[in-house]
Amino acid sequence: MSQGRFITFEGIDGSGKSTQARLLAAYLRAKGEDVVLTREPGGAPGAEEIRRLLVEGDPERWSAETEILLFTAARRDHLERTIRPALERGATVISDRFADSTRVYQGTTRGDLRKLVDNLHDMMIGIEPDLTFIIDMDPSEALSRGLARKSGEDRFEDMGAEFQFKLREGFMALASAAPERCHLVNGHRDPDAIAHDIAMLADLAA
Ligand code: ADP
Ligand code: TYD
Repeated sequence: MSQGRFITFEGIDGSGKSTQARLLAAYLRAKGEDVVLTREPGGAPGAEEIRRLLVEGDPERWSAETEILLFTAARRDHLERTIRPALERGATVISDRFADSTRVYQGTTRGDLRKLVDNLHDMMIGIEPDLTFIIDMDPSEALSRGLARKSGEDRFEDMGAEFQFKLREGFMALASAAPERCHLVNGHRDPDAIAHDIAMLADLAA
């Protein structure tokens, strides 16, 4: 079994996950930990190619079912090439999104596909993070932060505010369903204040 620690960041688009993942990586590296900072969809060359199919283009481009297959394919590549090797050598892996995103984005927002998501996860991925930070924030505020970036990767942001409200509820439900690994973090604060809380929780769980 793996020796390193696997930490994930989750939440709606623009909630500050990437910022906090970076800050936690810097904090742990400063303490001498070997940290691999990665992201989904992506995190390995093949998975990054699949990412482009998912985050660019028309919101109606894929059905929820097709998305589940593409995200899971990208995750399997990420797991094989990046996550598993790093955990096996004892590194701490910090991933900006992982399977909880599929559970919420594809599993709950466009009909109830959660069972399909869970079955595919069990067959193809089979691991859960040791620790997950779910950054909670108001979808309208997060959306304006996210779209202000104009990254060209706005396919999910383009699904609109109502979609983001459903996502927020989905993440909250997930946090209460898996309290042993999930911490809900208030994202409406200064980045350093949020990072301070996250660092404390990560130290406590170590
Ligand atoms: P995500 O990865 O969840 O999409 P990011 O970390 O990329 O979010 O942040 C989205 C935008 O909001 C970025 O421009 C970032 O600089 C800004 N941002 C991140 N955290 C905060 C915060 N706590 N307060 C205000 N702005 C923030
Ligand atoms: P990301 O780059 O994290 O976007 P953001 O920084 O805006 O939060 O993720 C790209 C998009 O992919 C994002 O809108 C969420 C979506 N996504 C899913 O729908 N399912 C998944 O399993 C994953 C990992 C991401």
